[in-house]
Amino acid sequence: MKMKTAFVCQQCGQTYSKWMGRCQECGEWNSVVEEITNRSAKVGAAVEPQKAVALDQVTGMDLPRIASNLQELDTVLGGGLVPGSVTLIGGEPGIGKSTLLLQASAQYALGGRKVLYASGEESSQQIALRAQRMGIRTKNLWILPENRLELILARVKEIKPEILVIDSVQTVQTDILESQPGSVGQLRECTGKLVELAKTNGLPCFLVGHVTKEGNIAGPKVLEHLVDTVLYFEGMSSQIFRILRSIKNRFGSTNEIGVFEMAACGLKEVKNPSAFFLSEKRELTPGSIVGSTVEGSRPLLVEIQALVSRSYLTIPRRTAIGLDSNRLSLLVAVLEKRAGFTLFDQDVYANVAGGLRLTEPATDLAVIAALISSHTGKNATPSSVFIGEVGLGGEVRNVPRVELRLKESARMGFKTAFCPKRAIEELNGDLPFDDIRPVEHVEQLKDWFR
Ligand code: TYD
Ligand code: MG
Repeated sequence: MKMKTAFVCQQCGQTYSKWMGRCQECGEWNSVVEEITNRSAKVGAAVEPQKAVALDQVTGMDLPRIASNLQELDTVLGGGLVPGSVTLIGGEPGIGKSTLLLQASAQYALGGRKVLYASGEESSQQIALRAQRMGIRTKNLWILPENRLELILARVKEIKPEILVIDSVQTVQTDILESQPGSVGQLRECTGKLVELAKTNGLPCFLVGHVTKEGNIAGPKVLEHLVDTVLYFEGMSSQIFRILRSIKNRFGSTNEIGVFEMAACGLKEVKNPSAFFLSEKRELTPGSIVGSTVEGSRPLLVEIQALVSRSYLTIPRRTAIGLDSNRLSLLVAVLEKRAGFTLFDQDVYANVAGGLRLTEPATDLAVIAALISSHTGKNATPSSVFIGEVGLGGEVRNVPRVELRLKESARMGFKTAFCPKRAIEELNGDLPFDDIRPVEHVEQLKDWFR
């Protein structure tokens, strides 16, 4: 049967015979998407009607997992790849998605599984060159430079891979739709087909998806509900470390992260991220303070650097790299109002070493300490770590998982910790190291710098 398509506004449902930038009916921009209009009803009918089952009667819940031997990846997937699952790996161009998947593919292939790596972005020579640079040689890994969906599906039938990689889903196109590859219509249709392929054949499938800095609408966002697992690969291209984060996982928790380092011969796993993010001689310069953040279930120690210097501008600078700039302004205001520091004529810069991006308020106290240290030119007690959220009144609030943070600090050789008073009370004497100082208000920090 010949497929018929139409352009449908996703906002109001109005249909058009050609693409429009703006819906004439509701006035929404970029909402018109090409769709198949005469999809056969048989697709639904072919599936066996399901019966309702009592929850305790359901069997077969132990999912088999395929390990890649890249432990960081396996952990983020929830213990390995699940047969028939579809995993979307999103990330900005150049971050290392192709590198990661080529490396994972090689590992699966070395483990004796046939892998088909379809790339619409690079030629076989380019991929082979990259593989060579990464020291990958295996005959179980098949490369297919192709972006037409129908042809990829034909090759899958022929080669019968046990794992399929599509790099990237934005370059894949189906002949049925006239829209450009990467448009919402193409993305949805192609991904839908690939999901069907994965489910009917038990073939696990990785899809690479580019996201732009602006969070482009035709990016992986529209695909997130179609797939089982969504991982984001992030980090700054200028920095060597990369974090693989799970945003959605139907087969595991979204609490795990994987840390990698981009080296000359591919990605290396970082087993001890705290050591990675702390610089060597941190205690020598005022303004450099160690804080603690928890990424998923993993504690990380991070170095926060502040520079407070006399401003010659009418409006002094507040520059934050790696943390929210509103948060920084707020903490500067708290120091000014609640701890009596004069900062209105000072430029303030704050930076998280190693290019990490902090999202947790648990590093507030460390930021405050770094600001005080830079402003006064004094250092904190050597080998100390600062943990706590700071409120507008200057009060130091409790944060989750203080015990985990303290254990990580002890493991990394820290001797002193500044913690919210409540947290210490809750730990009830069960402390991983001796010198733990309760802080109730930011003003108390003043006495601890010399
Ligand atoms: P790539 O995997 O192509 O990124 P993506 O698929 O997300 O667009 O990798 C991009 C960068 O990684 C590229 O600029 C070069 C760098 N790189 C290394 O530093 N070492 C390596 O071994 C490889 C393969 C790439
Ligand atoms: Mg790529």
